[in-house]
Amino acid sequence: MENIKAYVQQHKDRFINELIELLKIPSVSADTAYCQDVIDTANAVKASLEKAGCDFVEICDTPGYPIVYGEKIIDKSLPTVLVYGHYDVQPPDPMELWTSPPFEPVIKKTEIHPEGAIFARGSCDDKGQMYMHVKALEYMVQSNTLPCNVKFMIEGEEEVGSKSLSWFVERNQEKLKNDVILISDTGMISNQQPSITTGLRGLSYVEVEVTGPNRDLHSGLYGGAVANPINVLAKMIASLHDDDNHITIPGFYDKVQELSLEERAEMAKVPFNLEDYKKALDLTDVYGEKGYVTNERNSIRPTLDVNGIWGGYTGEGAKTVIASKAFAKISMRLVPNQDWSAITELFTKHFIRIAPAGVIVKVKPHHGGQGYVTPIDSIGYKAANMAYTETFGVPAIPVRSGGSIPIVALFEKELKSKTILMGFGLDSDAIHSPNEHFGIFNYLKGIETIPLFYKYFVELSK
Ligand code: BES
Ligand code: MN
Ligand code: MN
Repeated sequence: MENIKAYVQQHKDRFINELIELLKIPSVSADTAYCQDVIDTANAVKASLEKAGCDFVEICDTPGYPIVYGEKIIDKSLPTVLVYGHYDVQPPDPMELWTSPPFEPVIKKTEIHPEGAIFARGSCDDKGQMYMHVKALEYMVQSNTLPCNVKFMIEGEEEVGSKSLSWFVERNQEKLKNDVILISDTGMISNQQPSITTGLRGLSYVEVEVTGPNRDLHSGLYGGAVANPINVLAKMIASLHDDDNHITIPGFYDKVQELSLEERAEMAKVPFNLEDYKKALDLTDVYGEKGYVTNERNSIRPTLDVNGIWGGYTGEGAKTVIASKAFAKISMRLVPNQDWSAITELFTKHFIRIAPAGVIVKVKPHHGGQGYVTPIDSIGYKAANMAYTETFGVPAIPVRSGGSIPIVALFEKELKSKTILMGFGLDSDAIHSPNEHFGIFNYLKGIETIPLFYKYFVELSK
């Protein structure tokens, strides 16, 4: 495929401009104010798949946001690659921290991206990475090098738990039949060192509510005599970790798979510089579970984090008040074998049990999903590694990521196929944060690497 490089060079300005148009539509799935934009984005994705050369593309309605399905079947006896991605994005706030508006994409140079990066919400997660697959298809169709069948399934609810996708997958097993699932919605180590994600963490997300008195009270008249729900919530949350930063929920670690010392030694070989890590985040030190290093804490170990906490008076100045209620949103990142609904139950029981007399505690489960690990001796992994080796000049390193794509475990269960996570983003691309960006180098390298995956996957499948 000598020509893919030349094709990318020739068409790169158009590739960038097409992505910029897609990024202008604010497809925020979490906020119903953007409902029409999410639907418009689905239509834009549909049009792009038609233009790239799919024979059949449809918008599949679901109880929630639509799924864009497309396919090009060249020969039923050949293997089929199913590409998954998401066209929805995270909310952009806090708005004031963006150096340019989140839905007005601009290209700016950074230290890590000297060739420039596109700054916009969704540039890396996941519109940019999803669109690489559309352009890779365009190349393979134009150059008559598509070596197998391809199906696309692009959803609009990934950032809010993929409810409708589960519904869709359960009802369309035959239509979605494939030999391998290919996803670019993760990262790699650096632009010099590609990696393939071999694991994702599971997730349990809950919201808690602590109620004290039936109304807000004067903190002088009542202070000291009634439970303050905010004080209580803070204490309860603090008790969820011990002094070694282990999680204290009984049974929480029961199913956790401990890695062997050999596996941990293998992990330690992955290039990582703690000083650079701290510097990039302006941290005086790292923090976490005793007995594990940073790259273990954020991948092979489960965690519990408060994502938001509120209650009482937070306006200007001071108000002397004891609030009636306090709230928090809590996420638990889980590792393979920890079942997310079992963990949600353990949390709920424990949190209600530790509540002191004088308050009432409610726990509301949000969404969740199972973790995932994939072997490195599969044809798909090998094909991905061969593709990266060719375009980066060095083999990819297998890495377990700390992030979650809950639908991957469901794919394995319902569709009985393995997922290959070929990510091209960097941890520093600020996904979910203000100033999210995606390197032009990464975008074009992705478009170059993907057709090679198809080529090697088909060759190895023979
Ligand atoms: N693409 C991310 C997940 C990701 C990013 C995995 C980088 C590995 C490396 C995805 O869009 C995401 O944000 N997932 C959510 C979970 C979802 C249920 C809201 C997450 O990990 O918080
Ligand atoms: Mn994503
Ligand atoms: Mn995301």
